[in-house]
This record gives sequence, structure tokens and C-alpha cells, in this order.
Amino acid sequence: MVYDYIIIGTGVAGLNAARLIPKDKKVLILCKKSPWDCNTFWAQGGVATAVDKDDIEPHIKDTLVAGVNQNNKEAVRVLSENSRACINDLISAGLEFDLNDKGQLAFTKEAAHSRSRILHADGDATGRMVHLFLLSQCNHEIRTNVVVNDFLIDDDICYGVQFFTSETDEEIAYAHTTIIASGGVGSIYKYHTNSTAIAGEIQGLCVEKGLKLKDMEMMQFHPTVVKGTHFARKPLLSEALRGEGAYIVDENDYRFLFDYHEDGELAPRDVVSRSIFDYHKKTGLGIYLSFDKFEKNFFIKRFPNIYANLKDLGFELPFEKVPISPAFHYAMGGIQTDIKAKVIGMKNLYAIGEAACNGIHGANRLASNSLLEGIVFSKIAVEETLKNDFKIDEKNYKKEIKKYIRNKQIDKKIKDSLRKLMWENAAIVRDRKALRLTLEKIDKFLEEDVGRLLHLRLLTAKSILKAAVEREVSIGAHFIKE
Ligand code: SIN
Repeated sequence: MVYDYIIIGTGVAGLNAARLIPKDKKVLILCKKSPWDCNTFWAQGGVATAVDKDDIEPHIKDTLVAGVNQNNKEAVRVLSENSRACINDLISAGLEFDLNDKGQLAFTKEAAHSRSRILHADGDATGRMVHLFLLSQCNHEIRTNVVVNDFLIDDDICYGVQFFTSETDEEIAYAHTTIIASGGVGSIYKYHTNSTAIAGEIQGLCVEKGLKLKDMEMMQFHPTVVKGTHFARKPLLSEALRGEGAYIVDENDYRFLFDYHEDGELAPRDVVSRSIFDYHKKTGLGIYLSFDKFEKNFFIKRFPNIYANLKDLGFELPFEKVPISPAFHYAMGGIQTDIKAKVIGMKNLYAIGEAACNGIHGANRLASNSLLEGIVFSKIAVEETLKNDFKIDEKNYKKEIKKYIRNKQIDKKIKDSLRKLMWENAAIVRDRKALRLTLEKIDKFLEEDVGRLLHLRLLTAKSILKAAVEREVSIGAHFIKE
């Protein structure tokens, strides 16, 4: 059987695409673990949108300023101009955002936004609410614990995918259209805010197939995660906390961020993360997020989940400040697509959400533009596929399952080294020599007889390092120590 669509991934982009595909189409959605093992589920702050027509130009401007003008300006315009209509469409379909006392949509502010334009749900669980809503709308077949390990690509046509499942060895599925919505690269780094299922294998697969990745040196580090928990996935302290008045201090209660940027805590994310990194390195002092401007009741009502999580970790809120550090958060770079979400060079392969890169975020993503990107470009992708109406003839593809070994014994050691190397050498502040040496080490790892998944992950890591070595001048999230 040939599906009309295969969608890889169940985050906001994949599920919104599924929602918009006409009901009479045969759709197969593949997810690596369970549907909520995606980055959308963990997103806290919210969804940015141009509030109204008058806010389109300011939203575009803020996105470009945060992205250091490295953005694809056409893509940014498409994002902003379509934002409010896409959000309204979700609201009409039943998604509930938080309202203010007057019963109107409650917009909040986040760093580098010139006005309050972020919508949120259940206070600080926006991603989870969006995800649960989209999942509730999904009538298509979802297969869980399915790991895509190959694309069936011949020339410029994608015939479908091959995958490992937990029950069987390997299977293939054909589709007229394949949409990649598999998320970013989180687990390539030692410390991150992502779902642990997200490890960049699909980007590696694209490298192997000769498809282009773009802006892979542009990796975003969130300034505020709870420091000290021993898990790789760090509890996020949403930027919206700072938007509502929380602030960053050293252990002597000094607000050092104003020494780095006039907007202090509300400077673009790359600036705040780098300043924290630099200040801590120079002074050795601990860095904290302080909530002492918050009334306790406001904290509980506006940020119920963060409040509860921090309480569970033992903090007495809002009086006690919380130790923080930056951690990997988001890949601006990804699989290169055009403005209609089509993968460059391919007829019927699309990429959306964090997995994709049409240059929208430039050198640094503006806070809360990621859920919006997933929402807007999934719609554009679906519209484009319906217009194209491309059909494969699966008989043209040689039905041959390639045998891969999923994991090998050596993998654990190399995976740990990889994550440490990327964290130390391809993160917030980079050093040319260290980048080159790390690239050589990754090449050595690639010569080892590793499992399929680690091999793909290594290819993605290599593409990050290669792009970082090639971009000699610091810009945005790519900062080279001179
Ligand atoms: C946050 O809540 O701080 C994350 C929002 C984002 O990454 O845009």
C-alpha cells in the first residue's frame, strides 16, 4: 500500500500538518518513542504572533534584530503575515489560550520583543497544551517506537522511508509525499532542555543522502535552566519569567547583565547566555534567577508548573533564588527548504519545524517564534503538497530492505564522548582550534564500526562543526573567542 503522506514526528509541526491534511487522505505518522516525546511538549513560554496588522512590521523587525539580520527576510515576512490567521484558526478549532481579566487573549512579553505578543496556555505549559490539543484532533494512524533509519530516495523523488520498530526488525512504507517534522538535535549536547528522544538522526540521514543542511553552526543556548540536577535534560525556566519581572543576579545580588547589554535580562537570548557564561568564567561567582518582585499568588497563578517543579526541588518561593546556567535549547539550522517547506532538490520531500531551515531565524531565534514557525509552515507545506499533487510509482523503486544494526556495544562510550565534546567545544563560546580538533575526532568516530543511529548522529554533529569551522567571523549564536 502507498500512503498519501508519511509524517515523521509528532511535535507541533507534524501534528498541525496532520490536522490540515484532508480527512480522505491516507496518512501514516511515525514517532520515535511516544507522541509526547517531542520538544513541543516541553515548551513553556508560549507562541509569538503579530497581535494585529499594525504589529506585523514590529514583529518582523524584532525577529530580524534577534537574528542579527542573517534571516531569510521573505520567510520572516511570511511567518509574521500569516501568524494571526493561523493562531485564530487554532482557536476556532478549539485550542484555548489564557485570557486576561477582561476575557481577552492575554499577551505576555519575552526577551527582545518590543511589545507583549506571546500567547500562553495553562500559564507556563503552552507546548503541552498545544500538543495535547493537536493530538486530540488527530485521526490518522500513529505508529510509536518507530525509528526512521533510511529514506527511499532515487534522484529527486522520495518514495518513502525505512524504519526500525520495536516489534519487528525493519520495515518500509511508501508515500506520495513525505514530511519531515522530527525536531532538532538536543541529545547531541551533554546538557539540554529537549526531549531525550531528539538526537538529530534525520539530519544525519539527509547528509548521507546528499541533501543540504543550512545554518548548522547556529545552535541556540537557553540562558536559564535549573543548575545542579544531574540529568542531561535540564528543567527550563521560561523566558516569560523574565518578561514578567524575574531577574538574573550573581551570588551577591548584583544584576551584572546590564554591564553587557542595555536591555539586561531582556536582551536577545544569545547575548544573555554568552554574558552569563563570560561573567561566571571571569568571576567564578554563582548565577541565580531571582523572583523577589513576584507576589506568591501571582507566581502560582501565572507559572503554576514552574512553581510546582521548583517547590519539588526544595526551593522556598518566591523568596529563594534559583541557581541557573545556560543549556542547549534549539537548532536554528536544519534541513534546507525553500519558502514552501520543500526540501531543496526534492520533488515530494518536505521539512517543517525545528528539523527544517529556510533561514527564518537567522543567527538567533527570537523567543517563542518556534511554535509559531511549526504552525505556519506546516500549513504552507500541506497547501503546497495539495497543489503539487505529486504521485510516486512505487514500482520504480527497488524494494530492498537494507540491513542496519541499530546499536552496538561501543556506542555508549562514543555517544558520551560526543555529547561532552559538543558541549565543551561547539556551544556558547567557541575556539577555532578546538572546533577543528573536535571535527577530527568526529571523523575518527565515524571510522568506527558503530550502530546506525549513532552513525547518523555523528554525521549531524560533523555538519555542526564543519559549518562552525567554515564561518570564521562571530555572529549571533556562533561566537568565536579571539
Ligand atoms: C521559554 O519559555 O523560555 C522558551 C521559549 C522559546 O524557546 O521560544
